[in-house]
Amino acid sequence: MEVIIRSSREEAEKMTAAMLATAVETKPDCVLGLATGRTMEAVYAELARLHRDKGLDFSQVCTFNLDEYIGLAPDDPNSYRYYMQEKLFDHINIDPQRTYLPDGLSKDIKQEGPHYEAQIRYRGGIDLQLLGIGEDGHIGFNEPLSSFASRTRDVTLTPETIAQNSPMFQRPEDMPRRAFTMGVGTILEARRIVMLVTGAGKARVLAAAVEGPLAAIVPASALQFHQNAVVIVDAAAASELR
Ligand code: F6R
Repeated sequence: MEVIIRSSREEAEKMTAAMLATAVETKPDCVLGLATGRTMEAVYAELARLHRDKGLDFSQVCTFNLDEYIGLAPDDPNSYRYYMQEKLFDHINIDPQRTYLPDGLSKDIKQEGPHYEAQIRYRGGIDLQLLGIGEDGHIGFNEPLSSFASRTRDVTLTPETIAQNSPMFQRPEDMPRRAFTMGVGTILEARRIVMLVTGAGKARVLAAAVEGPLAAIVPASALQFHQNAVVIVDAAAASELR
């Protein structure tokens, strides 16, 4: 695992966007794994700008998001499908048929994970997976103590994650308590992983993830296993690294 420290948040965000853009230029039909959350907003804004100003072509790209809330419809402003449309897909020339998220309204909750994994396999597997990290060390919605071998499945969110994400809901009590997420094992199968971590609020958990022991209590520490993982951080997030 390689850790790259940039002096400012903006530089870290730009570098992450540039890595995604290079992946698209190098392999126009690449399969990207995508994340949501506040950290990614500037990355998607930069990709939209690269499409608009430099003609970055997404027409053959395929995307798989990490997660989706159970019970939210695609047109719910709090769903991750809505986030992706608003922040990225509506601003680039991606084919909607090539953008995948777990179905938050799936009728068969236990089948949704295997079904999603079959779709990932059908598209050839993920070339580049973008990740953020939760304040409790989660990746996707793999909460502390998720197995490193876990697959895409339905999970119950922890009180920490509910506290982290519920402010994004107009009525915080409306935040779903369950979600679908790619598993840690699924994420580790991506050919390349880029995790972006910014802000002092993530400094402690970042240090635990990249310098601490491999431990299911910090799901992001699983990236230490990966042969081709890069963690891009700003100086604030790096402040607790040794
Ligand atoms: C969301 C996801 C989460 C976030 C994490 C950080 O798709 O994968 O693991 O990356 O919760 O969220 P922010 O960026 O809002 O701090």
